[in-house]
Amino acid sequence: MRLVLLGAPGSGKGTQAARLREHLQVPHISTGDLLRAAVKAGTPLGLQAKAVMEAGGLVSDEIVLGMLEERLTAGDTGNGFILDGYPRNLAQANALDALLKKLHQPMDIAIQLDVDTELLISRLAGRAQVEGRADDSPEAVRNRLKVYNEATAPVVDYYRNAGRLACLNGVGAMDEVFQRILEALAPTPEVG
Ligand code: AP5
Repeated sequence: MRLVLLGAPGSGKGTQAARLREHLQVPHISTGDLLRAAVKAGTPLGLQAKAVMEAGGLVSDEIVLGMLEERLTAGDTGNGFILDGYPRNLAQANALDALLKKLHQPMDIAIQLDVDTELLISRLAGRAQVEGRADDSPEAVRNRLKVYNEATAPVVDYYRNAGRLACLNGVGAMDEVFQRILEALAPTPEVG
């Protein structure tokens, strides 16, 4: 199973990807996690990405695509993968399709988790208190939501128009949301 998880910051992509990884036994590939690891390790790429991430902006398409290609060719994606945090704009969506075509690994489905803005802000404020992630400050969250609405929301339409989207309610207990995803992945999913 090769799937893409879409949704605004705080919609639960990382939370659900961790459950799906256990369920499907395929790697969870999060471009946010890959970038945070590069920042932590102080690599040249991480140094370039750090300020942009802390401000809630998007790291350059070129950097992220290079990183993703390296990860997708690491040799453990034969049975599929869960992609979380990519694509984030139409250029990335096109680049992903081209990359997966080159790798002969076409994507099965994109799942969007839909959560209203007020709840997103409240979830991220809660996480800020617990984890202190640099981009969970109120200013960075505002910017991340703006970037999502301007750059990433069109990606949802891109997959909808291609008949590859399942749009799900991301509100409710984590287990409930997980069940909705499993239903969407069932052999005859309702897509669109
Ligand atoms: P990234 O790490 O992808 O962050 P994000 O998209 O903003 O997503 P979050 O991790 O904040 O939220 P999530 O949807 O995963 O929700 P989560 O499960 O964590 O990206 C970070 C940055 O890296 C970007 O801003 C950008 O700078 C850069 N970047 C990454 N990819 C890029 C790309 N492709 N191109 C360019 N730049 C890129 O949940 C959030 C909180 O809510 C948690 O506390 C969780 O416990 C809670 N929660 C989750 N589900 C529920 C539920 N059902 N009920 C109650 N609480 C819940």
